[in-house]
Amino acid sequence: MKILFIGDIVGSPGRDMVQNYLPKLKQKYQPHVTIVNGENAASGKGITEKIYKQLLEWGAQAITMGNHTWDKKELFEFIDNAPYMVRPANFPEGTPGKGLVFIKSNGLELAVINLQGRTFLPPLDDPFRVVDELIDEAKKRTNLIFVDFHAEATSEKQAMGWYLDGRVTAVVGTHTHTQTADERILPMGTGYITDVGMTGPYDGILGTDREAVIKRFLTNLPVRFEVKKEGRTQLNAFLVDVDNQSGRTKKVERVLINDDHPFFG
Ligand SMILES: [Fe+2]
Ligand SMILES: [Fe+2]
Repeated sequence: MKILFIGDIVGSPGRDMVQNYLPKLKQKYQPHVTIVNGENAASGKGITEKIYKQLLEWGAQAITMGNHTWDKKELFEFIDNAPYMVRPANFPEGTPGKGLVFIKSNGLELAVINLQGRTFLPPLDDPFRVVDELIDEAKKRTNLIFVDFHAEATSEKQAMGWYLDGRVTAVVGTHTHTQTADERILPMGTGYITDVGMTGPYDGILGTDREAVIKRFLTNLPVRFEVKKEGRTQLNAFLVDVDNQSGRTKKVERVLINDDHPFFG
């Protein structure tokens, strides 16, 4: 099984990139399952029902989330009817939605898990303990397990990668919006990258209008952060090629599309 994962989609520039490039990426890499992180898909903050449906229509089979999950309040109304949305599993018990979702492909099942880190992010349940339980649950059905660990600290993400090595197919980091060049296969067969990066504006700061961010650093005054609407865009993704029997990763590849790294079909 080949799995394509697209990093944090930021606002309309990010959605446009997915709509334009996902068909091309599918043609080039032939993934069996495509997962996207949608926590910033609606103007940088959260996701709407319309966008959730669009992302599925454009070719995603699962949509993972993160610390911006609840920014659009309408999510509370549709999350129970959004079977392909995966929000961080270590939110407190009783939180709407699911942190583990199964995706069917060619007679196989892929378990998709979303977790959120606790370093430099609001306190949540322990993602390491929660993931142990979810792996037990997933293993009853499949050896193919994909983890999106939405976290700020590189050390916490590396710790999760090593903690899960040999127990899951892949651990990919999201949230920092900056792709890391440390993609690898850990010794026991888990594909890993500290951060996949983001999909959206290329000349903003993490997708946000850069003037506002610079002003914030210069003045320390509150400013309104908005998605940079005009200008160049980028897409950041990660590809894993998996042995179906063992669930181990055979090959990993970073995908980066921007003016400095043009796409070749
Ligand atoms: Fe994000
Ligand atoms: Fe985030």
